[in-house]
Amino acid sequence: MNFVGSHILSVSQFDRRAVERVFDVADQMLPYAHRQLVTRVLEGAILGNMFFEPSTRTRVSFGSAWNLLGGEVRETTEIKASAIAKGESFYDTARVLSGYSDVIVMRHQQEGSVDEFAIASRVPVINGGDGANEHPSQALLDLYTIRKEMTDRGKDIDGLRIALVGDLRYGRAVHSLCKLLSLYSDLHFTLVSPPELSLSKDYIDGIKSAGHEVIESDELHSGIRHADILYVTRTQEERFPSQAEADRYKGLFRLNQSIYTEYCEPNTVIMHPLPRDSRGNANELDNDLNENPNLAIFRQTDNGVLVRMALFALILDVVDKVGATATKVSWYTAKRF
Ligand code: NCD
Repeated sequence: MNFVGSHILSVSQFDRRAVERVFDVADQMLPYAHRQLVTRVLEGAILGNMFFEPSTRTRVSFGSAWNLLGGEVRETTEIKASAIAKGESFYDTARVLSGYSDVIVMRHQQEGSVDEFAIASRVPVINGGDGANEHPSQALLDLYTIRKEMTDRGKDIDGLRIALVGDLRYGRAVHSLCKLLSLYSDLHFTLVSPPELSLSKDYIDGIKSAGHEVIESDELHSGIRHADILYVTRTQEERFPSQAEADRYKGLFRLNQSIYTEYCEPNTVIMHPLPRDSRGNANELDNDLNENPNLAIFRQTDNGVLVRMALFALILDVVDKVGATATKVSWYTAKRF
């Protein structure tokens, strides 16, 4: 895969070598993300951050990743704040905004919207999530996290046992992650969801045809036994025809410390793309897991910055120049990592 100048729209663009390249560059970004070194390699460059659906971590971590490389960020965060609300097409918006930016990250509720936007854009576009379809940067940071967590436990991604729990029908993070994991060997997937929210046949066929085992279950306790990774998701209520329908599935698969202790292996890693829904009727990952050392959710969010820095450095062809402009951080830095 040639990263330079390319759009990142789907994980289908990646082979295993390309994934490893992203991870190697992400590793190189640690001293910058950890506030040990400062680089100005993207000084003067502008990121167009266009989020037409709610977002905290994806939007802010893409922005921070760009800032950490020395660039400036311009934000558009709501449809009503953009000319799309006046009926402007993706084509026109993309032609215009690509004149103002060096890279654009876009999130929109419509599947395929980011592809349509990228066709008209004059600069590289990264998919920050298009409806229930894909979320490639999330899958890359999830896989980067899985790799780190497994390495720390003396294991590999090959042979991994992963349980994916919750709304597998509408969860774009899960969709992209399944495709990316399929690049590895001999994985065991347990898909835990109510039948109505199961992973679609196309994704399951894709996993199976890559040689992996898939077991489907609608029961949490048996589904999470023997997993190396437990990947829990939120009910994507914004994609349901009505709130009442979404509410039927909320809180069906709650994980707390006592269920973890009883049913999981002692070292099972708990992941979630976040946000976890903390409202009482949902609460898919209970707060009593917060002190569990295997809860990797905030390591995932930290890793997101590294992976997004790597994508920018690769796309803009500055990987070898990042260190050339580096200086030591001169301010007090809290120990966050
Ligand atoms: C996910 C998303 O937006 O798809 N969040 C994220 O980007 N970290 C998952 C979700 O919203 O449930």
